[in-house]
Amino acid sequence: MKHFAKLFLISVVSIFLLVLPLQAAGTIKIGAIFPITGPLATFGTSCANGAKMAIEEVNLRGGVLGSKIELLIEDDQYKPEEAANAAKKLIERDKVVALIAEVTSSVTLVVAPIAQQSKIVLLTPTATNPKVTQVGDYIFRACFIDDFQGEVMANFVYKNLKLKTAAILTAVTSDYSKGLAQFFKQKFTALGGKIVAEESYSEGDSDFRAQLTKIKSAKPDFVYVPGYYADVGPILLQARELGITVPFGGGDGWDSPVLLQTAGKAAEGCFFSNHYSPDSKEPIVQTFVKNYQKKYGTTPDALAALAYDAAKLLVDAIKRAGSTDSSKIKDALAATKGFRGVTGVITFDANRNPVKSAVIIEIKDGKQVYRTTVKP
Ligand code: PHE
Repeated sequence: MKHFAKLFLISVVSIFLLVLPLQAAGTIKIGAIFPITGPLATFGTSCANGAKMAIEEVNLRGGVLGSKIELLIEDDQYKPEEAANAAKKLIERDKVVALIAEVTSSVTLVVAPIAQQSKIVLLTPTATNPKVTQVGDYIFRACFIDDFQGEVMANFVYKNLKLKTAAILTAVTSDYSKGLAQFFKQKFTALGGKIVAEESYSEGDSDFRAQLTKIKSAKPDFVYVPGYYADVGPILLQARELGITVPFGGGDGWDSPVLLQTAGKAAEGCFFSNHYSPDSKEPIVQTFVKNYQKKYGTTPDALAALAYDAAKLLVDAIKRAGSTDSSKIKDALAATKGFRGVTGVITFDANRNPVKSAVIIEIKDGKQVYRTTVKP
């Protein structure tokens, strides 16, 4: 009896040991790197939520290529070194088949060369600076680029708001901010508008009064601040304190509930360009918004929608590749045509950038209000 028990135990253990690696090998691992804590925490949290929801939906329908997907999410706190370490760990130790990373252009520009060198597909949901996908043929994005985003806002300010002079306040520590400032300026001046002041700051600064005082004395009709919500909130508050009453505007970096909380009334009547609006009547948007609200209790912002689309795009490419081989995933992703996402229909151009519409959002009564959609 004792002998039998021993034999039984040995066979149970060996079956377990045999089955365990089979099961582990049976999941397909996808890595994700987002700033879930730190100054841009709402960006990272939204992206993590969106990507998780997409992968859960895929797994509920059986996964892809007969396997479930395991999403490994790392928090980089908006620190480039943390993001680089996370990328190396996910690629070398966890053996992910692809990365959904990062959120901001500056950090994505640090992580992308690592993915490119390792020949691992990196799909950023949100990094809009044109340089990001120029890193190489393994680097893709799910969003439009800032050449377009800057033009959209310049057109809106000049033609719709009919404002002819503008000041620009740029975050010199951010590739995103510098790029967007340049693209806005090019288009606004090409239209016949005039840039009357150009000032700058570093992310994390708390006092913007010196720059804002110079901007005030230049008497612009509009102030363009292509920064992230963490800085834009204090900038708007200080601008109103100094008596600057004209509308301010920016890009997708304004998309955070924290901006509305910190700036309060100072944000009223401001505008920004973005990737999507949860107010859209499109059935795909409404289903996504409903499911997200049910799961997380908040309305999904553009980051949540883009990360959701990015995860689904990647799974679609793995399915069409019929393999988790990274060069096959890369080729399948590049061949994506007419993919229906929450943020629009995605077809990649030769530079692995999708051509998509933008929306203009107005801040009104403490809320984001959809104004218009601009096609490329
Ligand atoms: N586009 C920003 C960047 O490139 C990131 C971002 C996207 C922020 C969408 C908010 C919403 O850095």
